Amino acid sequence: MAEENGLSQVFEITGKDFGRAGTISTKIKEILQEIGIDSAVIRRAAIAAYEAEMNIVMYAQRGTLTLTLTPTAIRLDVDDEGPGIEDIELAMQEGFSTATDEMREMGFGAGMGLPNIRKNSDEFAISSTPGKGTSIDVVLNLNQVAE
Ligand SMILES: Nc1ncnc2c1ncn2[C@@H]1O[C@H](COP(=O)(O)OP(=O)(O)OP(=O)(O)O)[C@@H](O)[C@H]1O
Ligand SMILES: [Mg+2]
Repeated sequence: MAEENGLSQVFEITGKDFGRAGTISTKIKEILQEIGIDSAVIRRAAIAAYEAEMNIVMYAQRGTLTLTLTPTAIRLDVDDEGPGIEDIELAMQEGFSTATDEMREMGFGAGMGLPNIRKNSDEFAISSTPGKGTSIDVVLNLNQVAE
């Protein structure tokens, strides 16, 4: 959804589509590079986008990642349709994972995705409705030069 004073772009993510997993966060990284965002901020945004994208691929049916650029910030709004998260506090703990053996064989399931999204965000919010889905909102501030 377009926001005031911002340019938004919506990306669709499909659950269980491990073949295309990572393509949305790569695309976001490219967009941020093209507009000349500070590389340290791009790196943090790319990590947050990648971990959120992978969680949709691994746990949800489908979702969207909306990238919004404003003069002062990058926003990543991630919404999925899926099982939701029963205990968010538990899910946010480093090392907690319900990844399957198959996912662990692919190198996922360290239980570090959500903690890393929070760590790399200036503002972080997560909400979930069991049986419906999960939403994550991330803001990364762009450094403002004082006048
Ligand atoms: N979008 C989601 N829908 C439903 N459950 C989720 C979602 N995202 C995370 N979870 C739950 O929260 C747990 C922790 O997520 P987190 O991303 O921190 O770790 P992980 O995905 O298990 O492992 P890693 O991200 O290190 O590969 C997951 O194992 C899963 O149970
Ligand atoms: Mg994860």
